[in-house]
Amino acid sequence: MEATIVSNSVKHYPVLLKEIISVISPQHGGTFIDCTLGQGGYTKEILKYKNTRVIGLDRDLNTEVIGKEIQEKYVDRFIFKNLKFSKINNLKLKKEDIKGIVFDLGYSLIQIKDPKKGLSFNSQGPLNMMMGLNDFSADHVINNLDEKEIEKILKYFGDENDAKLISRNIVKERQSKKINTQELVKIIERCKRKKNYKVHSATKTFQALRIFVNKEISELIYGLINAVKVLKKDGVLAVVTFHSLEDKIVKYFFKNLSKNKSISRYEPKIKQREIFFSMPLNKPIIPSDKEIKENPQSRSAKLRYVVKQKEAYEIENDLIDKFSYLLKIENLGLKL
Ligand SMILES: C[S@@+](CC[C@H](N)C(=O)[O-])C[C@H]1O[C@@H](n2cnc3c(N)ncnc32)[C@H](O)[C@@H]1O
Repeated sequence: MEATIVSNSVKHYPVLLKEIISVISPQHGGTFIDCTLGQGGYTKEILKYKNTRVIGLDRDLNTEVIGKEIQEKYVDRFIFKNLKFSKINNLKLKKEDIKGIVFDLGYSLIQIKDPKKGLSFNSQGPLNMMMGLNDFSADHVINNLDEKEIEKILKYFGDENDAKLISRNIVKERQSKKINTQELVKIIERCKRKKNYKVHSATKTFQALRIFVNKEISELIYGLINAVKVLKKDGVLAVVTFHSLEDKIVKYFFKNLSKNKSISRYEPKIKQREIFFSMPLNKPIIPSDKEIKENPQSRSAKLRYVVKQKEAYEIENDLIDKFSYLLKIENLGLKL
């Protein structure tokens, strides 16, 4: 199994690759959707099996090059779409049976290291953080939203304890100059009350801004809901997450539609929840020590999967209600 892909001297390791393949079983052929093509790590592995087809999606147009390379090799078995995965149900699938759908959330190391994207706190130059198909950049957020709004983003999307102080200082500083990436890092460093020498002071703020700029919460919520509509019965939906907020959403969605919560016989009878999935494992699959040693970036990865049990054109679920407090914060971007 190909473990690494080298591009522009940055090595890419597809995370939990062996585990993904074992969960979606491409050995028997069938059509799969790779919602996060990236460097094509999962797609290339699936296509090694005969009678498989893959539809690869990615919001980052830079991945089109990878898409073209794969298509040259597998002419009739692969197509690339520059599409956000929340729109997976807009694909014209002509009654194609979709046997497996995979999401590998977040960013590839190649994106993180791309100075033009400005995803990292090591980047020089203007704030950006747009992965592709965005409506606004981090520059718009930092230089336009008000103090309370920035504070909410940092608190809820980054779990940043010093959100109040950081947002107050951002607003103060921007009155005299436009804030770029390195100036933002300096503001954060001045505001952090407790220094953690293992984790960079700007980690949480940058995570929060990336989530907000790329609308990652609504992407994930609508991506999951629409993926279920597209998947065939007995098909597998597999998701790799990298931070607790993502994992919380995936776990809730899978568990909630997998089994009925136990209801006390003393409680009034309520409508039975519909069951759409079976969930073979209650706990997530995590990388082995060997994988973490080879690719330390994989250490926070969690793979969860479900098997679809019945057709679902409309799934009744409370995922949107449950996480409406996060969707509301994301909607602050509507005014940018
Ligand atoms: C971690 S990488 C995927 C790596 C891939 N599994 C591989 O092995 O090469 C995540 C990719 O998903 C893409 N992505 C993130 N959010 C997306 C979304 N909402 N819609 C489509 N693509 C998305 C990113 O642009 C990035 O290329």
